Amino acid sequence: MSRNLLGLIESRQAQVAVVGCGYVGLPLALTLWRAGFRVLAVDIDRQKVAALRACRPYVWGVEEPELKQALDSGDFVPTEYADEAAKSDVVLLCLPTPLDENNIPDLSALRETAEWLAQHLRRGQLVVLESTTYPGTTEEVLRPILERSGLVAGRDFYLAYAPHRYDPGSEGRRIGDIPRVVGEGGEASLEVAAAFYETFTPQVVRVSNTQTAEAVKMLENIFRAVNIALVNELKEVFLKLGVDTYEAIEAAATKPFGFMKFLPGPGFGGHCVPVDPFYVAWRAKQVGVECDFV
Ligand SMILES: NC(=O)c1ccc[n+]([C@@H]2O[C@H](COP(=O)([O-])OP(=O)(O)OC[C@H]3O[C@@H](n4cnc5c(N)ncnc54)[C@H](O)[C@@H]3O)[C@@H](O)[C@H]2O)c1
Repeated sequence: MSRNLLGLIESRQAQVAVVGCGYVGLPLALTLWRAGFRVLAVDIDRQKVAALRACRPYVWGVEEPELKQALDSGDFVPTEYADEAAKSDVVLLCLPTPLDENNIPDLSALRETAEWLAQHLRRGQLVVLESTTYPGTTEEVLRPILERSGLVAGRDFYLAYAPHRYDPGSEGRRIGDIPRVVGEGGEASLEVAAAFYETFTPQVVRVSNTQTAEAVKMLENIFRAVNIALVNELKEVFLKLGVDTYEAIEAAATKPFGFMKFLPGPGFGGHCVPVDPFYVAWRAKQVGVECDFV
């Protein structure tokens, strides 16, 4: 099974569907087009699909000239849910993973999409979840829904989790410049998923399973959240004590070990960093651990 898909990936003949074309999915879809793949940019929001078709980009980092070039090539196709998209050789899920009104993970977009995919899944496809989520999601939520198709992950199709890493606002660091972590959700999936990510990233870091890859993403984002909160709080204290926080940080940053520089700012926002601690705390509670710190 893997020889066919590996061949299609290596020769760039694989068709890739990016499902969920928001801040993450749209730049990713264009990165893949640039890497030589035919890309279907799939979104449930008809206005976004119409905007793409009319060459009106709506997220940071996607410029009109490049979008026009991609559309004109015929190998970048914006679309609503379509059977053809679900049948693509590679399907990447870049769906929202917000919290509900009780601060509980809301995976409804992922579940709905998985059900749609399961109806069309075929042998030899690679499905990768890129959304940020708690450890266990791919194995316990995504895999069982996809396997309702009658196909088995690792035997009939490949399944992986590869957390998206994105540095919005950073001109110098684009998606294709950032190493990616990949964990497999079924035998033989790692080889195929890693081969795919190697076509457009500088380094693929293989981890043993999807739970570990999901944990990596939580670790990265919660590390960031904690350190931003810490430096902002210390700034308030230092201000009252007549200490220049920036001078203190610069001096501390000369320590060659055990310190990482974070600068005070307006706090954190966006899709991931404020949400992820709740994902981990919720999951921890399920397995009987109360998080005091997170
Ligand atoms: N924004 C970031 O910087 C960033 C970085 C890393 C990871 N992430 C993670 O990536 C995921 C996506 O984040 P985002 O910022 O791109 O979100 P977004 O809201 O900008 O984009 C999500 C897209 O999915 C579409 N969508 C919603 N439900 C859908 C469905 N059922 N089927 C198809 N499309 C659907 C929406 O219309 C939207 O265009 C989240 O899990 C987020 O935590 C975000």
